[in-house]
Amino acid sequence: MLTINTSDISPIELQGYLQSAIAPRPICLASTIDKAGQVNLSPFSYFNLFSMNPPICIFSPSRRVRDNTTKHTLENLKEVPECVINIVNYAMVGQVSLSSCEYSKDVNEFTKAGFTQIPSDLVAPPRVAESPIQLECTVAQIIALGEKAGAGNLVLAEIKRIHIADSVLNANNKIDQAKLDLVARLGGDWYARINEQNLFEVTKPNTQLGMGFDMLPKFIRESEALSNNEKAQLANCTTLPESIAKNTSISLDFTDAHMNAIKKELAGKNAQAAWAFIETLIVHQ
Ligand SMILES: Cc1cc2nc3c(=O)[nH]c(=O)nc-3n(C[C@H](O)[C@H](O)[C@H](O)COP(=O)(O)O)c2cc1C
Repeated sequence: MLTINTSDISPIELQGYLQSAIAPRPICLASTIDKAGQVNLSPFSYFNLFSMNPPICIFSPSRRVRDNTTKHTLENLKEVPECVINIVNYAMVGQVSLSSCEYSKDVNEFTKAGFTQIPSDLVAPPRVAESPIQLECTVAQIIALGEKAGAGNLVLAEIKRIHIADSVLNANNKIDQAKLDLVARLGGDWYARINEQNLFEVTKPNTQLGMGFDMLPKFIRESEALSNNEKAQLANCTTLPESIAKNTSISLDFTDAHMNAIKKELAGKNAQAAWAFIETLIVHQ
């Protein structure tokens, strides 16, 4: 295993490791405006949601690693503490990348990247019409994390109004995760697309405690045929079936057919049925 002290390598090398490791990151396409009314549009992947009440998301226009200069977005926010965070989907990603070019301050990246500028309701910076979700925000605070090249500047943006395109809503007016077709940023030039092909659900017990790996009988815990994700599904159930709970040292050799039947239930997100099947095997052994 490679072990690195962050103080032993340059910020640029560090960026390579950390941006690949801390990924995928959502992308905020932030529009801002200066006092003179000059609009700016730039993407930021040091971005996430941090609070629901108040609703706060944070993004970080960092000091450039290359020359320690600051970004127009940051300068604008200091003059006019408002922004629109435009959520980025796959259809927009090429234009978003283009908007990250370091155009001079008098250049509006909406024009350069070919995006359509539409007025916001509550804040001065405009929205990106092509973005499926646009968040009108006021800036609550800017926290500088340092003065050296690469230092982040945390922009705490309070979300005041949300615009959601009908095309990404389901019949209940909730966001359909598959329809949104989000993209995320990884290391280097890599991006990820989040669509129907790679979405999956992990059942979360909100009210009941999963029994945990430590409660699994040894023949399940040490099974090489079951993956750790499959074992976690079994451990997510609240209790062991009675026949196993009564005798936790019980052992069972699964045939391939048995194992396939268990895996099939787990693939169908039915851990209870998997346990029930295991129990019938124990009862009949
Ligand atoms: C997808 C993507 C994500 C980016 N994320 C960040 C980021 O989180 N922080 C940052 O400082 N720069 C980031 N950049 C680079 C900025 O977008 C770029 O420096 C831009 O020119 C800044 O523009 P400005 O000076 O007009 O504000 C990112 C670029 C891309 C393409």
